[in-house]
This record gives sequence, C-alpha cells and structure tokens, in this order.
Amino acid sequence: MTMIQISPSVLACDFSKLGEEVRSVHEAGADMIHLDVMDGCFVPNISFGLPVIECLRRATDAFFDVHLMIDAPERYIERFAKAGADLISFHLEATEDPAACLRAIRACGKKAALAIKPNTPAEAVYPYLSLCDMILVMTVEPGYGGQALIPSTLDKVATLRRELQARSMYLPIQVDGGINRLTAAAAVRAGADVLVAGSAVFRAADRAAEIRALREV
Ligand code: DX5
Ligand code: ZN
Repeated sequence: MTMIQISPSVLACDFSKLGEEVRSVHEAGADMIHLDVMDGCFVPNISFGLPVIECLRRATDAFFDVHLMIDAPERYIERFAKAGADLISFHLEATEDPAACLRAIRACGKKAALAIKPNTPAEAVYPYLSLCDMILVMTVEPGYGGQALIPSTLDKVATLRRELQARSMYLPIQVDGGINRLTAAAAVRAGADVLVAGSAVFRAADRAAEIRALREV
C-alpha cells in the first residue's frame, strides 16, 4: 500500500499570521508545507516570494514544498533553494529547458519536481522522468485556490502512473487544486500519492482530523 502524504497549501491561510498557520498544520500532521509562488505573469495572480519563505524557514523545520508558478524559473532556482525550499516544483510550460531546471534544483541539493497544467498531456513529462523526484499534475488551472477539480486531469494521473509502472519506476505524483475528502479518493485511485489541499485543510474546524481524513481516503 502506498503512503499518502498531505501538503497543505498556505494560499488558503490567514496571511496576517502566516508563521502560526504553518506551525498549526505542521503540528496537525502535515507531511510538508505547500508554498505557492505566483508572479502575475505565468499566472494571473501574485502571492508571495523569497523574503516570506526566508522568514518562515526560521520559524519551522517543516519540509517546504515550493511550487513556482513563475515564468523562466531558471532565474530564481538558486535563490529559492537558499531561501529554504526542500523541494522545488516549476512548470514545464514556463521554461524552454526543463531538464536544465531539474538539474539546477538537484545541484542545489534539493528535490526537483516538474509541474504540468490541466491542458498539458501527461506524455510531455516522459523525457524528463529520470531527472524528477516528483511530478505535479495540476488538477485546476494554476492561479487561485478554492476552485473545483477538473476530472479529466485524473486521467492524466492514471496515464502517468501506468507509464511509470511500465518503466518499473516509482515517482510520487502530486495533485494540486480542488482536493477535498470527496475528490481525494478518486485522485488516489488514479495513482496520486501526494495531495495538496489548501481550502480543505485551512478552512476545516479540526485541521488534524481533516489531514487524517485526507490521508486515509
Ligand atoms: C493553485 C495553487 C494551489 C491552491 C490549492 O494555483 O497551486 O496550491 O492553493 O488550493 P485548493 O486546495 O483550495 O484548491
Ligand atoms: Zn500549488
């Protein structure tokens, strides 16, 4: 049986007390903390960046899963690694040289993940699998929390899991967007094993119970 890991996205938290919010979900059993960086170019929204992650790094020893939704991520990989990321994911659609980005992340001693948007086929990541520590399949259009999961994205998760199995390879597949108690089961059935959840975790009355429920779907 695969272990399911939960990565709460702070995009849904109260940013006026970010440190406490991160500590709260870490103590509630989160396996990692999902930090969504948006540049207003790759996605039509702006979130937060390097200084925020640097400060958070001093506030917790939680594993930082940094999701870069920025154009030309190669410009910033080293700086996010230094700021305290443990894993860096970036978008295939955002760069001309995904292989170089993956290598750059690993050269910083960090885990590297390649992310794809809902309209990018699973096959697009095949040439890079050996350079990846995780694949992120976006289950909504990146940019905003609180959206509904797009069901067809789970077919891509299944396709990717089958391809990995055919290659006798194991890589974690992360899903991000619209994950809740209802959709998590379908995502896991399709082959996902790292679940990002923003609204579901941060809006829950009992965050520990929510994380447990998501993990045990
Ligand atoms: C969307 C972000 C997600 C988002 C998920 O662009 O990448 O991480 O915060 O939020 P929920 O779980 O609310 O869909
Ligand atoms: Zn994200």
